[in-house]
Amino acid sequence: MPAITASSPGKIILCGEHAVVYGAPAIALPVFQVSTQTTILARPTAAQGEVKIVAPCINLDDNLDALDDQHPLKAAANLVKEALGISRLQACEIRINSSIPLAAGLGSSASVTVSMVSALSQFLGHPLELDAVNRIAFEVEKIHHGTPSGIDNTVITYETPIYFQKDSPIEHLSINRGFKLVIADSGTATLTAETVAGVRERWQKNREEYDNVIAHIGELSREIRHILCKKDLLAQGDLLTQNHNLLCKLGVSTWKLDHLVKTALEAGATGAKLSGGGGGGNIIAIVDPSKAAIVAQALVENGAVHTIITSIEADTAVR
Ligand code: PMV
Repeated sequence: MPAITASSPGKIILCGEHAVVYGAPAIALPVFQVSTQTTILARPTAAQGEVKIVAPCINLDDNLDALDDQHPLKAAANLVKEALGISRLQACEIRINSSIPLAAGLGSSASVTVSMVSALSQFLGHPLELDAVNRIAFEVEKIHHGTPSGIDNTVITYETPIYFQKDSPIEHLSINRGFKLVIADSGTATLTAETVAGVRERWQKNREEYDNVIAHIGELSREIRHILCKKDLLAQGDLLTQNHNLLCKLGVSTWKLDHLVKTALEAGATGAKLSGGGGGGNIIAIVDPSKAAIVAQALVENGAVHTIITSIEADTAVR
């Protein structure tokens, strides 16, 4: 049997992170410069049902059976079996390679799950529909992050820009005018579960103020959606900076993230913000194509450990 391979992109959150956990809308974009590949090979000579799983990106080289049921990859495999009504997998080796940095807000956990679920269901001869892949990836995100909104697994499964609001149908966005984003890694790893829990703790202590900020972020996301679909976000990049300032009020920015945002703006970005959980991870800056390299260079000179320049094309997903 030939090897089966499935690939999934990374992602960034354009606006609305954290507020989305409380029911406000948010927008996320797939990022194809980083990705996860899962390859599955049959092992006809191995013991019946023996599944080897090798994922150097998370230091894993073991038999699937040896993993705890709450291990995200074991849980993903069990959910695939359940969805397909299969009680036992055939002997195989699952190899997972990812270029997505861990704990950086680029969707590494969701990307690993989505690519594995897609590859495994194909290997078993019944490729799951995207809706089913997304449902499974959401369950696995709960193991990773506690109370995820579902935005990461959704944008990574469908690989299109999405406008996402909990308990509402997913809206795939068609972009009116393309732009470039510089994504800059602050070099500090961050656990989304912790930043989300921190916001919840502060929200419980100061509900009125936090609800106001969350509502304000929701309004920004609605405005940004309109501009993305009908106008030119580059010309109104300040909306992203406004979103960053509101995230500061939620307490999820850091000195370094603020410094990188300021650096990007001074180097010519029309807007910039932290992206994802905060507390570390990445910032994004919206730039005119002619300024992308200059902004990326300024970010590296000011402490970013890595930058990605990504183009968001009109009417298509991010390439
Ligand atoms: O996975 P991250 O760090 O990009 O964060 C996802 C966005 C949050 O709103 C902070 C959490 C969530 O589940 O929506």
